[in-house]
Amino acid sequence: MNKTSISAKAKKATLFDENTEFKPSKEFSKNAHIKSMAQYKRMHKESIDQPDKFWAREANELTWQKKWDNVLEWKAPDAKWFKGAKLNICENCVDRHVEAGRGNKAAIIWEGEPGDKRVITYRQLLRDVSRFANALIAEGVKPKDRVLIYMPMTPEASIAMLACARIGAVHSVVFGGFSAESIKDRLEDSEAVAVITCDGGWRRGGTVELKANVDAALKGNKTVKTVIVQKRIGNDVTMKKGRDKWWEDVIADAPAVHKPKGFNSEHPLFILYTSGSTGKPKGILHTTGGYMVGTYTTAKYIFDLKEDDVYWCTADVGWITGHSYITYGPLLNGVTQIMYEGAPNYPEWNRFWSIIEEYGVSIFYTAPTAIRAFIKAGDEHVDKHDLSSLRLLGTVGEPINPAAWLWYYEKIGGGKCPIVDTWWQTETGAVMITPLPGCTPIKPGTATLPFFGVDAAILDEDSNVCKPNVPGKLVIRKPWPSMLRNIYGDKKRYKDTYWGDYKGMYTAGDGARMDKKGNIYIVGRLDDVLNVSGHRLGTAEVESSLVAHKAVAEAAVVAKPHEVKGEAIVCFVTLKSNVKPTDKLKIELRNHVGKIIGAIAKPDAIHFAPALPKTRSGKIMRRLLKELVKTGQVTGNVSTLEDSKVITDLQKSIKE
Ligand code: PRX
Repeated sequence: MNKTSISAKAKKATLFDENTEFKPSKEFSKNAHIKSMAQYKRMHKESIDQPDKFWAREANELTWQKKWDNVLEWKAPDAKWFKGAKLNICENCVDRHVEAGRGNKAAIIWEGEPGDKRVITYRQLLRDVSRFANALIAEGVKPKDRVLIYMPMTPEASIAMLACARIGAVHSVVFGGFSAESIKDRLEDSEAVAVITCDGGWRRGGTVELKANVDAALKGNKTVKTVIVQKRIGNDVTMKKGRDKWWEDVIADAPAVHKPKGFNSEHPLFILYTSGSTGKPKGILHTTGGYMVGTYTTAKYIFDLKEDDVYWCTADVGWITGHSYITYGPLLNGVTQIMYEGAPNYPEWNRFWSIIEEYGVSIFYTAPTAIRAFIKAGDEHVDKHDLSSLRLLGTVGEPINPAAWLWYYEKIGGGKCPIVDTWWQTETGAVMITPLPGCTPIKPGTATLPFFGVDAAILDEDSNVCKPNVPGKLVIRKPWPSMLRNIYGDKKRYKDTYWGDYKGMYTAGDGARMDKKGNIYIVGRLDDVLNVSGHRLGTAEVESSLVAHKAVAEAAVVAKPHEVKGEAIVCFVTLKSNVKPTDKLKIELRNHVGKIIGAIAKPDAIHFAPALPKTRSGKIMRRLLKELVKTGQVTGNVSTLEDSKVITDLQKSIKE
């Protein structure tokens, strides 16, 4: 049982005293991969001064069918890591461990939402992945072809990704909560030749119609030749003859042996769409060799992975966290991992804690939004369970507020587990700023220090390094192995978005500050990107879905701080002149956004306004709207506003 009381030190930290640090226990440090700050500093220095030496040593722990000529070729913004090498990332995730004698070790311990269970050993994973790889080849999928994966959290989601990688096809996973429209956009942009999906998925006791969404998305599509459907919930689905096949049928005749071919290090591995500042998500392109070394190394050191750990990352494979720290990083390290299909609160709020107790989870990686939801649900759900198997905790996706951090530290970690608050992005492919659990002093609210090979800085508008605690733009000054290589099909947007602000440096889009000790505090996005429950959404995306509705003339979307979700979506909508503002219409618009983007984008509030605040040149003044939703009024400078009466009307609208 964990302690319920917050220790004196933790109480002090609730006052957010930045000097209150939590150090790992001597025992933890003694057994950790990185045991002391001196070791971290030495290795970090080497990784920056001699990246070739550092990364070659890490890469040499993996299997390469042909070694590289150069560790790095860098001509900003184009990086080639491990040029000349040939490798198969799937071979590294699976075959390598079977050959090393881990064939009977559990690779994935899976629990379905209704409570069904499966254990897949590394040997079984090898057979399953090989079969599915052969099945994809039989369906005509070739290297570099794009395959869209739209699956719930079943082992087959990872198997599908690994099988694509094994045959050199490029997977593009779309989160199961996204709509048919979102799938359609991604299919069009990537020109995918195949889709892998399920008949449906379980969610909070209900079902999600995955295949039906795929069918709707495929209307008018000309590139997709095959749809492979895993049976999960057993509902009736339409199967189009010649195009749609059951997973079970395509693997039935597929050989269980497949020889993994070596691909070039810069061979494309996956495209993952993420939100930016325009209405359409961008396809972040990752390649193979560097991504493999990056995810392998970060998972090993940050989660301090050991042979007998039971690791659990609660993300969905539809997000980058699921790619790097469910499918690739842990399997590259040969660990046993838990995979859970369903909602954290199904059937009760203790589901996560019961899983940790049942399987003896030792490393637990989740999102701040989940932690806040658990706090709200009440400690009694935690108290029922023995969480003493835990030795390390992690968070990702958004800033974690000190209160949530301390609850996680004390209540879940029993005051003995280091917390790794990991900062990174879809674009970075792997964790960039993080404590290393055996050495870094941790404290609530900071992701602490750069990982090996990461040259992070906070710059002002004139490219000067900001003084301690002065906020600025977070940049990465040197290339790193798992970095994105492109926005799929749009090199110009890639250059402009990430490499345009400071010469030769990557701009993350986040604001941050650094304290005197070098700890980095992430302040949040600087662009118009929202972070709702750790999920990235563009305000422009929500706006463009709103204006696609026949009743809407104009829309502006801003974030409002939210106790559990981090940020909530607030929309100001101007209706066409002949449309009446009704509550029914608000509901209709909410559902409309859900239909266009997906349930995660459904606005929390919609306010009808006769007009939006604009500058004389017609630009919407979001700053005023942000202030309005936060404080209920506007006190900032409104001198550039075209019509000041708009503010009075808006203030009225948020009270309605
Ligand atoms: O604003 C940062 C926030 O999430 C953004 C990246 O979102 P995405 O590409 O969806 O990847 C999320 C999972 C890696 C960042 O620009 N973010 C991520 N991790 C943290 C964070 N903000 C604060 N602290 C973090 N640990």
